[in-house]
Amino acid sequence: MRKQIIAGNWKMFNNLSESVELTAALKAGLSAKDAGCEVIVCPPFTSLETVHTIAKDSPIQVGAQNMYFEENGAYTGEISASMLLSTGCTHVILGHSERRTIFGESDAVINKKIKKALSAGLKPIFCIGETLQEREGGTTFDVIRKQVTEGLQNVSEAELGNIILAYEPVWAIGTGKTATPAQAQEVHAFIRDLIVKLFSAAAAEKIVIQYGGSVKPENAAELLGQPDIDGALVGGACLKANSFLKIIESCRK
Ligand code: 13P
Repeated sequence: MRKQIIAGNWKMFNNLSESVELTAALKAGLSAKDAGCEVIVCPPFTSLETVHTIAKDSPIQVGAQNMYFEENGAYTGEISASMLLSTGCTHVILGHSERRTIFGESDAVINKKIKKALSAGLKPIFCIGETLQEREGGTTFDVIRKQVTEGLQNVSEAELGNIILAYEPVWAIGTGKTATPAQAQEVHAFIRDLIVKLFSAAAAEKIVIQYGGSVKPENAAELLGQPDIDGALVGGACLKANSFLKIIESCRK
C-alpha cells in the first residue's frame, strides 16, 4: 500500500513571522499523534530556512514552490536547486498551473527543471491538469498525456521513484469547485496507466499521485478514499493550521 502524502502549497502567502507562527502550530498539532502519512509544507523562498529549522524533530518536510534549471549564473531573480538544498528543503513543486499560465512555463522548461531537481537530489512535486475549456472540449486525457510525457522526457525509472505527481484540474484551483471523487479517480487511474506504458507496472504501482484543487477538511476524506488518490496538494486550506491538520487526519491509515 502506498503511503499518502499531504503537501501544503503556501503560494505567495506568509511573511517570515507568519511562517514561524503557522509552522509552530502545525508542529504542535502533529507531535500529539502519528500523522499516518507524509507531510510537506511549501513556503515562499524567504521562509524556507526558518521553516526547516522549526520543523526539525517533527514529521514536517519542507519544499520550495519553484526553481531554475541552471546551476548558477546571471539569471536575476532566479533560485537554483543547490540554493534550495542549502536551506534544508527536500522537495520542489514544479509545473504548477500558475507557473504555466502566469509565467509562461512550457512542458519543455518544466522537463528541464525536473531533470535538474532530480540530479541535484531534490524531489519534484510535478503538477499537471487541464483547464475548464479543455475539459469541456473533451481533451482532458490528451492534455494530461502530453504534460506527463513531455515533463518526464528522459527521466529514468529509478529517478521516477523520487517524483510525486499532482493532478490539479485548473478549474478546481482556488475556485471552491472540487472535482468529484469519481472525476478525480478517473484521471488518476488514467495517469497511473500512462506510467505503466511509459515506465513499467512496478513504477506505476509505486508512484504517489496527489489530487489538488479546493481540497478542504469537508471533502478530503472522500477524495483520499479513492484507490488511485495518494494524497493531496492543498492551497487555501493549508494556510490555517487547524484546517491543514484536519486534512492530514483524513488520510488513509
Ligand atoms: P486550492 O486548494 O486553493 O484550490 O489550491 C490548490 C493548489 O493550487 C495547490 O497547489
